Amino acid sequence: MAPVNIQNIQKRYGQVKVIHDISVDIGDGEFVVLVGPSGCGKSTLLRMIAGLEEVSDGEIRIGRREVSNLPARDRDIAMVFQNYALYPHMTVADNMGFALKLKKADPSEIAAKVQKAAAILGLESLLDRLPRQLSGGQRQRVAMGRALVRDPQVFLFDEPLSNLDAKLRVQMRGEIKSMHQRIGTTTIYVTHDQVEAMTMADKIVVLHGGLIEQVGAPLDLYDRPANLFVAGFIGSPSMNFIDGRIEEGVFRSSKGLILPLPDSLSLAQYGGRPLVYGIRPEHIRATTGGGLPARVGIVEGTGSEIYARLDCGGEEISCLFRERLNIRFGDKIEIAIDPTCIHLFDKASGKRL
Ligand SMILES: Nc1ncnc2c1ncn2[C@@H]1O[C@H](COP(=O)(O)OP(=O)(O)OP(=O)(O)O)[C@@H](O)[C@H]1O
Ligand SMILES: [Mg+2]
Repeated sequence: MAPVNIQNIQKRYGQVKVIHDISVDIGDGEFVVLVGPSGCGKSTLLRMIAGLEEVSDGEIRIGRREVSNLPARDRDIAMVFQNYALYPHMTVADNMGFALKLKKADPSEIAAKVQKAAAILGLESLLDRLPRQLSGGQRQRVAMGRALVRDPQVFLFDEPLSNLDAKLRVQMRGEIKSMHQRIGTTTIYVTHDQVEAMTMADKIVVLHGGLIEQVGAPLDLYDRPANLFVAGFIGSPSMNFIDGRIEEGVFRSSKGLILPLPDSLSLAQYGGRPLVYGIRPEHIRATTGGGLPARVGIVEGTGSEIYARLDCGGEEISCLFRERLNIRFGDKIEIAIDPTCIHLFDKASGKRL
């Protein structure tokens, strides 16, 4: 185990800069998730930590060592890729032990380490099979086993679950997390899936366009997103954003809808400025009497909850109702917004007020 410190890292391909100056400290034993949309630089950053990609500028430390210029094999890391990259002609046991064999480890030591990893991952009965005789989830587990036997200072994962179906993804998510809880190795995990990030991370780093938008614990990002990008990215379905201004003590949307504000807010300083009002779909209730009138558009029920898009005074608002409501397209209902759950952002800078 070791901390990882990334300082002022940049990456250029020719004239194109894809990582603009990223600094982040990852604690010893921490599970950190790098999350962001496609093309934001997640894999590039992870591959620079792994030593598979050169650093254009900046410094990477693993433990006390500066590793920016060390080859991958000397960094004491193990990486798990999306496509597993197993050797097709080798058994599960040989796949898992291969890195140790290359290091000329003693065969009995290799066998013991493979056994131990297989036990952690529930692969004991599959050790003699070839990769093609395994399901996708089992192959993924072998790829993790291969990383595990190396007993590295740091685990790196690049979208390891994207090839699995939804149910298996949820199961493997839990298994990776519980493996981390048992062995405690520092882990850096890349995903574009914010649900994976929220459920697995001790700390989330939100990347966008080669820059960090925010670093924090999952619930910090959910409760206090630093800007419109993070507010829209974290949480599913996404937060509603409504343009408007604070006027005479109320928030008035650009279409004239009046929305509630918390009492705690000192309004005077924001008066007249263009703002964005944010409210998560799950913080809106259906009510009768005294609510905001709305007309129901699309309705999707999953059994446990109902997702609905409403037209509320000309603004389109998404809601997630946890109670069983009997609503249909075209119905007129009333909604109530919990003012303590709202978020306000400056329209021009996108920053949270
Ligand atoms: N060898 C390369 N030469 C030029 N540009 C590259 C190269 N490799 C990656 N890029 C660019 O760098 C940016 C970041 O790529 P990267 O693979 O890190 O994204 P990502 O966040 O992992 O995306 P995804 O979620 O799609 O995997 C992209 O705009 C990509 O086009
Ligand atoms: Mg990638």
